[in-house]
Amino acid sequence: MDQDLTALASSRDRTLADLLRAGPIVPVITLERVEDAVPLARALVAGGLRLLEITLRTPAAADSAAAIIREVPEAIVGIGTVLTPKDLERAQALGARYALSPGATPDLLQAASRSAMPFIPGIATASELMAALAHGFQTVKFFPAVAAGGIPALKALAGPFPQARFCPTGGIDEKNVKDWLALPNVVAAGGSWICSTSDIRAQAWDTITAKAKQAVAAAQG
Ligand code: 3PG
Repeated sequence: MDQDLTALASSRDRTLADLLRAGPIVPVITLERVEDAVPLARALVAGGLRLLEITLRTPAAADSAAAIIREVPEAIVGIGTVLTPKDLERAQALGARYALSPGATPDLLQAASRSAMPFIPGIATASELMAALAHGFQTVKFFPAVAAGGIPALKALAGPFPQARFCPTGGIDEKNVKDWLALPNVVAAGGSWICSTSDIRAQAWDTITAKAKQAVAAAQG
């Protein structure tokens, strides 16, 4: 990496570390209706969760993220399911504070390494992690966390990659989140268990607030 990119990487890392202080639990949110966005974000914030991941998986995703950014200032909105450099540009244009991907393609890593936006690429293998590190990304999403080897896999990756910091997602729930967060190389853990599609469809905001509170208690416990 040249000097300019290294400086950009350090500044991105500092910003990301600041954002992650609002963690360590990140609800992974998929919205089908824009009108659910603001009440859902308020329900999560009321339950103690401010660091959100809005996935780009539905036609409603971008407008939902924009509505939350506009109307719920306590929420720290990240855009997830960023699959291409264009998605990353979209996330930036929306005013997201950070972006995440389930993977780490060469195109995406290159585009993200030239951007000031904090970005968390996804990795499931040592080689993918090496590609992320080579582009200046030390904090990565471990996805799909449980299916890709679970806690033993992350413990194993700590050996050759002591500098790597992980945000596992994929199969994490209220029962196992505490075990993931207990790993010294885990800085945050995320998942959709806090705001399931069925709870969002039912507009069960109180249930979601209760699940958020349970998640916060599990993380502290
Ligand atoms: C993600 O993008 O992080 C996952 O879809 C979350 O996985 P989960 O639904 O198993 O929590």
